[in-house]
Amino acid sequence: MRLLAAAVTTLAMTFGAQAVMAAPVELKFSHVVAENTPKGQMALKFKELVQERMGDKVVVEVFPNSQLFGDNKVLEAMLLGDVQMAAPALSKFQKYTDVLQIFDLPFLFKDMAAVERFQQGEEGQKLLGSLRKKGLVGLGYLHNGMKQLSASDPLQVPADASGKKFRIMTSDVLQAQFEAVDAVPLKKPFSEVFTLLQTKAIDGQENTWSNIYSKKFFEVQPYITESNHGVLDYLVVTSTEFWVSLDEPVQVELKKALDEAIAYGNDIAAKKTEEDKQQIIDSRRSEVLTLTAEQRAQWVEAMKPVWKQFEKDIGADLIKAAEAANQ
Ligand code: SIN
Repeated sequence: MRLLAAAVTTLAMTFGAQAVMAAPVELKFSHVVAENTPKGQMALKFKELVQERMGDKVVVEVFPNSQLFGDNKVLEAMLLGDVQMAAPALSKFQKYTDVLQIFDLPFLFKDMAAVERFQQGEEGQKLLGSLRKKGLVGLGYLHNGMKQLSASDPLQVPADASGKKFRIMTSDVLQAQFEAVDAVPLKKPFSEVFTLLQTKAIDGQENTWSNIYSKKFFEVQPYITESNHGVLDYLVVTSTEFWVSLDEPVQVELKKALDEAIAYGNDIAAKKTEEDKQQIIDSRRSEVLTLTAEQRAQWVEAMKPVWKQFEKDIGADLIKAAEAANQ
């Protein structure tokens, strides 16, 4: 009898202790860029805030530079539960939804302030839910910046791009954009871009100042045209399965930390756009070309028909709402 009582006490103590000391939730955040970028810094700030405020409940691990998953695998891995958070470029969701392709339409947003207005407006906020049917939750947008064109030869007018090979993200809109100027677009993961440029397997690519600088593309691309022809922003996502497995107070705290980390990342994005562009100019490795109004008008005229091509998939009203954000 004494033995039985001892066993019961031991069991009670064991289970009691487990209830009190439940293991923290592990949250892996995977991304493809360097740590000294808006996304890299945002992810680290998120980790820091979560550690400070809920270190006993949630532990965040950040994997930069495609260390854990590259672009083409991360969302599949998320649905399998192998990673809990990521922030792919908005151009990388085509397999899951058509509507986010709005962000790839060339010359749609005049600047990042217009992008911010659209994202925070009614239509932009609705788009956060566009992945729900696919088992993903959009938690917020993060900025990087406007895209520039880098190449092995100077690109001043659309005819200069003719026949040239450009790496693009996995987006049919971006494919159509380069085809519109008679160029050859190739969908390749971000992790391969530097080598493709260095070995001259491709002639150019489009990206933000921060990515061109942090991944050293400017060292292997003698010309960068300041085209600001499109936007490269991110959607921070998690899987529905992971998100609903969390207690509500944990969800609320995580969302709060994420919103703060995004605001921090957005400030860095604005600063880096200027600073990294200047670093590239100062390096003299790459010449930065500006377009005259007339040259720019030629790019707009050549690329804008892409809007019509994708209007059915994206929705004419959504395009109108995005255009309205320019005012
Ligand atoms: C990123 O900024 O996450 C990568 C962008 C790209 O694939 O060009």
